[in-house]
Amino acid sequence: MNLDLDVDVDKDSRTVALITGASRGLGLEIARLFAARGMRLGLTARGAAALHAAAQELSAHTDVVALPGDVADQEHDAQLVDKVLEAFGHVDVLVNNASLLGPMAELADYPLDALGAVLRANLVGPLALARLVLPSMRRRRSGVIVNVTSDAGVQAYPTWGGYGTSKAALEHASRVLAAELEGSGVRVYVVDPGDMNTAMHREAEPGVDLSHLPGPATVAPAFVRLLQETAASGRFEAAALLAVPV
Ligand SMILES: NC(=O)c1ccc[n+]([C@@H]2O[C@H](COP(=O)([O-])OP(=O)(O)OC[C@H]3O[C@@H](n4cnc5c(N)ncnc54)[C@H](OP(=O)(O)O)[C@@H]3O)[C@@H](O)[C@H]2O)c1
Repeated sequence: MNLDLDVDVDKDSRTVALITGASRGLGLEIARLFAARGMRLGLTARGAAALHAAAQELSAHTDVVALPGDVADQEHDAQLVDKVLEAFGHVDVLVNNASLLGPMAELADYPLDALGAVLRANLVGPLALARLVLPSMRRRRSGVIVNVTSDAGVQAYPTWGGYGTSKAALEHASRVLAAELEGSGVRVYVVDPGDMNTAMHREAEPGVDLSHLPGPATVAPAFVRLLQETAASGRFEAAALLAVPV
């Protein structure tokens, strides 16, 4: 397989993608679209039953490796990447999509243990996974790391400070990583999917009717669009990616 700088998901049926948080929501919809294009998949999420159900569904279309676990657990991250590399030999695309919302509390009252947990899941875990797949990407001088962010990482929304801080840190780590990977053939994208009607959003705003928001299946094609382009590393909004005709 020769991907060079362009990951052509339509032509190259052997592309390997590792997607975190793939048991529901946006991660599962991205996995469905990648599977439909023949990409081989490594998947994780904490809940084993939902992850295995997703893996079973997707294996009708492509090769799937699934390992339940927490992205905040670095042993799990290492086992996951080992398993994917053992099965497929390399990773072309890492989608760091899994995310912990954490408490919705003002920072003055925010439990600091919980802040540590949010940072481990949303910043340290994605960075750990990026570091684990990088040797294979560097060797092949090709790869894409996609870190899923939120407007809460840019805008200052009261009570969103723990989650928002973790996303802001993830965005900055992505910028630094991209600068360090300049010329390596590996691109680092940050993607804000925009508001969606998912379990995480419902947890953030209990009792609020979110039925007017797009579902994750509407947003996931933005990630295919991104891989089809050869844009330089940077920050993208799903709505803008979806506005470009395929
Ligand atoms: N929904 C929105 O409006 C919105 C807006 C902006 C950004 N985002 C971002 O979009 C991404 C996807 O969110 P979503 O709305 O699709 O959420 P979701 O429906 O709640 O799905 C989250 C997925 O991540 C998994 N997960 C959560 N914590 C994990 C952990 N520590 N380790 C491994 N897997 C974990 C979940 O499974 P388990 O619980 O079984 O682990 C599930 O598969 C997130 O990065 C989120 O921050 C969402």
